[in-house]
Amino acid sequence: MATRRLGIIMNGVTGRMGMNQHLIRSIAAIRDGGGVALSNGDRVMPDPILIGRNAEKIEALAKAHGVARWSTDLAKALTDRDDTVFFDAATTQMRPALLTQAIEAGKHVYCEKPVATHLDAALALVRKANTKGIKHGVVQDKLFLPGLMKLKMLVDSGFFGRLLSVRGEFGYWVFEGDLQPAQRPSWNYRAEDGGGIILDMLCHWRYVLDNLFGDVQSVSCLGATHIAQRIDEQGKTYQATADDAAYATFELAARGGERVIAQINSSWTTRVRRDDLVTFHVDGTHGSAVAGLHDCRTQSRVNTPKPVWNPDVKQPLDFFAHWQPVPEYTAFDNGFKVQWEAFIRHVVEDAPFKWNLLEGAKGVQLVECALKSWKERRWVDVPALAV
Ligand SMILES: NC(=O)c1ccc[n+]([C@@H]2O[C@H](COP(=O)([O-])OP(=O)(O)OC[C@H]3O[C@@H](n4cnc5c(N)ncnc54)[C@H](O)[C@@H]3O)[C@@H](O)[C@H]2O)c1
Repeated sequence: MATRRLGIIMNGVTGRMGMNQHLIRSIAAIRDGGGVALSNGDRVMPDPILIGRNAEKIEALAKAHGVARWSTDLAKALTDRDDTVFFDAATTQMRPALLTQAIEAGKHVYCEKPVATHLDAALALVRKANTKGIKHGVVQDKLFLPGLMKLKMLVDSGFFGRLLSVRGEFGYWVFEGDLQPAQRPSWNYRAEDGGGIILDMLCHWRYVLDNLFGDVQSVSCLGATHIAQRIDEQGKTYQATADDAAYATFELAARGGERVIAQINSSWTTRVRRDDLVTFHVDGTHGSAVAGLHDCRTQSRVNTPKPVWNPDVKQPLDFFAHWQPVPEYTAFDNGFKVQWEAFIRHVVEDAPFKWNLLEGAKGVQLVECALKSWKERRWVDVPALAV
């Protein structure tokens, strides 16, 4: 059994996602666990070099997580033939230029979503990557949430019968910054900096809907900027120019040929009174399920209580009591780490990996269609993507 090294150039790892999910919970955790196991029993040990603008900050981050290599010079790092993968979790707006640079340098690329703020740029990346023949991947982390994996198992088992509808509720209150500091970066609320909940969340909902319930065919979306002014990381008041809530309806073509209707509310301006920060309620002819990040509960046709509408009587049924938890059928690992391991196997031993730049571009396509729907106040079809 041999251990091989895989050199990975990691950009944007001082940020919230880059540091927590990609450096600490994925690459450092994989290294601590002895690397990624290949099908022949060999192992791959990621050897990252961290790239950042601020030398002191990036050096401290590298030291804190046992990473030997760091640099402020991305162009130079891209010339090192021993580092064959480039990863980016920095700003969305800079991503197409950075990925282009890395692809032109012959690197395999893996990155956070969205791959770009516009579909043209996302498709240009797909074409460039295909021409160069490099391997590519985009984070689709929600697919690896235990709650959604349980939900997918229910769909695959035929539990729902004919799928009817999906209702997604995503969101929580993001503080404005006066009473308490905001818990998300201020750029999220500025359109000119790549912010907006439609751009942030609809690229997630694209792969969730496509992979679990049916291909997205059309969208109707109403966005809103409910909170007009917020306070940034420096304590300065700024105008929120981006949408902070989106109320969207989608038509899906399910695998069995049926039309499924999905409605998803995404909001940074709502207070939570539900099972989790995101929940999906799925109804089918033979059963229903509600999934959160970790848990999933089902109610089958035969366990469905029979409510009768009568406003004169206080509701006698406890509607929360008739649901059964889906058991923890496996030990679920961090989803970002699981996808990293799959990407590393894809790079090293050509293992299948479907979450590529084209899948990422589909997310950006749905964002564009949703923004168009909002602007033009109408349903917008989502055509199959041609590269
Ligand atoms: N998969 C998910 O669930 C998920 C969740 C949140 C964010 N994201 C995505 O991850 C990316 C980063 O988001 P975040 O929340 O971590 O943001 P963040 O503001 O915490 O981090 C941004 C990173 O980009 C770097 N950066 C900013 N401006 C730069 C510049 N001009 N030059 C070079 N580097 C620069 C910062 O130093 C930092 O490392 C975004 O594309 C976002 O859409 C994905």
